[in-house]
Amino acid sequence: MQLAIVIMAAGKGTRLKSRRPKVLHQIGGRALVEHVVAAAAQVVEPKDIYVIIGHEAEAVRAALQHTGVRFVVQAEQRGTGHAIQTARPEVEGYENLIVLSGDAPMITTETILKLRDFHLEQQAAMTVLTTRPADPTGYGRVVRKTADKPDILAIVEQKALRPEQLTVLEINSGIYAFRAEPLFKLIGQLSTDNAHGEYYLTDMAALLVKAKERVVALETTDVHEVLGANTIAEMMELDAEMRMRKARALMDDGVTIFRPETSVIDSAVTVGTDTIVEPFVQLLGRTTIGSGCRIRSYSVIEDSTIGDDVTVLNGSIVTSSQVAKSAVIGPYSRLRPESEIGEGAHIGNFVEIKKSRVGAKSKANHLTYIGDTDIGPGTNVGAGTITCNYDGKNKHRTTIGANVFIGSDSTLVAPLAIADGSYIAAGSTITEDVPADALALGRARQTTKPDWAKKMRSRK
Ligand code: UD1
Ligand code: CA
Repeated sequence: MQLAIVIMAAGKGTRLKSRRPKVLHQIGGRALVEHVVAAAAQVVEPKDIYVIIGHEAEAVRAALQHTGVRFVVQAEQRGTGHAIQTARPEVEGYENLIVLSGDAPMITTETILKLRDFHLEQQAAMTVLTTRPADPTGYGRVVRKTADKPDILAIVEQKALRPEQLTVLEINSGIYAFRAEPLFKLIGQLSTDNAHGEYYLTDMAALLVKAKERVVALETTDVHEVLGANTIAEMMELDAEMRMRKARALMDDGVTIFRPETSVIDSAVTVGTDTIVEPFVQLLGRTTIGSGCRIRSYSVIEDSTIGDDVTVLNGSIVTSSQVAKSAVIGPYSRLRPESEIGEGAHIGNFVEIKKSRVGAKSKANHLTYIGDTDIGPGTNVGAGTITCNYDGKNKHRTTIGANVFIGSDSTLVAPLAIADGSYIAAGSTITEDVPADALALGRARQTTKPDWAKKMRSRK
């Protein structure tokens, strides 16, 4: 039982003016607290991560359940010191604790490791991660013993600053390492004798110093990494910063992103080398893009897997779908959930696909709706083809074989099977199954009346 990570996430976040708990607000496409858990989970096993929940506890628990972390319920939120007191029975047995804040989402695994190593090296009872932001207003300040040593005397909250302490620029990030034994020996001495009437975890610094324990600060120059967000505007600043870091990380891995400040790429997205992302592209959720792709402007791809060498032309929307190698999507295609586009297939202008498979090298290039359909390889779906998958009550499937030619403006009424190698004449309404290699026509025969137009005009 070495190290546990405790994440404080029970607070309400009153300054946000939102019904949702603060730690569930999203930046980079993920809840604030999920980012913190993700960074922590690279340092210790999920079972050694304890998330303190309270305000909207069940919503926070539900959002994190899949990560395998443990939960501590702090029913009444009486301050950060009280939060750690509440977790005591669960974490007392560990040698050291790292305490993170559920509302400081930019923290990285590297910084947690640095904090841990410094804490152990210094043999400190408490180590505070600090920084010097441009404006320290509102943060707790760190009072050092001397400027040249890491040892500190106290953390003083903004409202308790004495006039001469207003010049202290080093702030408490709210991220700490503790040796559990001295922490829990003295935590009972915290009092609520302060501006908020809360138990402040920050007061542990002075308490430990008084008990002759070592309390030190580790300063990080990456100010963003420890900043929290108290308003929506601040949160959106973190969002922009996080997405810019994501774009830079992808570019470091060989992805070209034009005007990265215009792209919206969620944290969990992966993109292969030599892929080009044009301006104003959104890559969201659990999306994976292969290498050598080109994603053109105004496309939005969410929770989808895109193979290598795929082209997604302008303005396409791809949701919960799979696109195989060398396919071409768009412009203005919409792939709705559970669509699978085969290798080298083309889905073109104003084509909507839903819950359908399109075989390798098949094409639906213009103005088409394909829903609940399986299409084999090498098939051509003509412009304006519609699968009528809904009878007003139930959805039905359409099966189209390999190397089929569906003439333009065909209406395919499901349930329907069109076998390999067959032809559907343009403008047909097809209601009966079509056998292999047949031609099906389902339209009125053309009548042509010679000179009719001329006669009509002469009548006037
Ligand atoms: C805290 C620090 C401050 C530091 C700042 C950094 C204290 C007293 N002050 O202030 O020195 O500069 O963080 O951002 O700790 N929480 C609980 N239970 C509670 C109260 C809070 O779980 O009873 C959680 C909150 O959900 C939040 C975290 O603890 O995730 C920090 O609490 P918050 O109220 O935001 O503290 P700050 O005022 O930001
Ligand atoms: Ca805060």
